[in-house]
Amino acid sequence: MPAGEHAKSVELRSVCKRFGNVTAVRPLDLQVEAGEFLTLLGPSGCGKTTLLRMIAGLEAVSGGAILVGGTDVTELPPHRRDTSIMFQDYALFPHKTLADNVSYGLKMRGISREKRNAAAQEWLARIGLSGMGARLPHQLSGGQRQRVALARSLIINPGVLLLDEPLGALDANLRKQMQGELKHLHREVGLTFVYVTHDQEEALTMSDRIAVMNDGAIEQLSPPQTVYDRPGTEFVARFIGHCNVVHAVVSEVGDGHALCDAGALGKMRMAATSGLEVGVPVALALRPEAIEVSPDTEMHAFNSAMVRVSDVRFTGSTHVIGTQATDGQEIEVEINRREAPTRLPEPGEEVTVRWSESALTRLRSDR
Ligand SMILES: Nc1ncnc2c1ncn2[C@@H]1O[C@H](COP(=O)(O)OP(=O)(O)OP(=O)(O)O)[C@@H](O)[C@H]1O
Ligand SMILES: [Mg+2]
Repeated sequence: MPAGEHAKSVELRSVCKRFGNVTAVRPLDLQVEAGEFLTLLGPSGCGKTTLLRMIAGLEAVSGGAILVGGTDVTELPPHRRDTSIMFQDYALFPHKTLADNVSYGLKMRGISREKRNAAAQEWLARIGLSGMGARLPHQLSGGQRQRVALARSLIINPGVLLLDEPLGALDANLRKQMQGELKHLHREVGLTFVYVTHDQEEALTMSDRIAVMNDGAIEQLSPPQTVYDRPGTEFVARFIGHCNVVHAVVSEVGDGHALCDAGALGKMRMAATSGLEVGVPVALALRPEAIEVSPDTEMHAFNSAMVRVSDVRFTGSTHVIGTQATDGQEIEVEINRREAPTRLPEPGEEVTVRWSESALTRLRSDR
């Protein structure tokens, strides 16, 4: 299959979904580029599956329009949309052989048995299961079943592959391995992937762009690094990698910067963003790994504070140090193990924390 030949774009225009009086998806716009790996990321119940099922045509929209490859498919049934969906529980036919499972979509499209078998053999080889076409699903491991489900979704050559938590049932190691395989496959076939997960690490490693969803809406749509480094809202900041969020009040607006008063955390100096005036409340994201901790008590005029260590946790690759300012505000610091001082601070100890101006991101207030 030549890379990217069949990839289609997906466009959502004011698409929304209500179940009775439950609003699962608020009216939203989304443009997925042809060949893109776009992830819908968000907590349980935020509307990810509903949105994916509407794109697939398995759920009718309550309003708005869906376009696949520029064609309005809002009223078309699933098999006429050029999309294919893969579910978390694989949904393989238990009594059909792997070959029949893989080639099922071709059968539905009236392709001859001979051609179906040839295509199934080709896909089984591609997913590392050559010669296993006569087996039944229960004779496979979880990872192998997952690959069969993937082959079954891809054999019909869809323009868009929709994946709903496809790795959710796998253990951590296998999950990592399959993440790599999926990413590789995406590059190889060049299709458009719309991928659903509630695992932020998975979203960060795999996606071209991430749509962070909260309560039926997309709060931010950006490449992984931007979502991580420049979260747009408090929700995104906290959902992606446990970010510190500091509430402060603007106390001075200078040339290209602003100072904000953050109580016992002192003055926060940041590059001025528009709309800042003295007295305006702001929420600031401060990444734990962007903070330095030192035992000295030398204070700067801004972007540093005296805090007391409340706990020290070891995560494997990092040490996480929980601290508290005198007014109770909590700041978490994460130190890469390789850069950790020979003696880590201990609970109860007073330390100085410092960060640079660029470590601060102003957040939009949540809806
Ligand atoms: N058929 C339905 N009838 C009524 N409410 C529904 C239906 N399907 C989903 N919902 C509700 O819509 C909201 C969104 O559900 P959805 O399954 O899209 O969430 P999700 O983000 O996929 O969550 P999870 O991560 O748990 O799979 C939830 O409040 C859910 O209870
Ligand atoms: Mg779901």
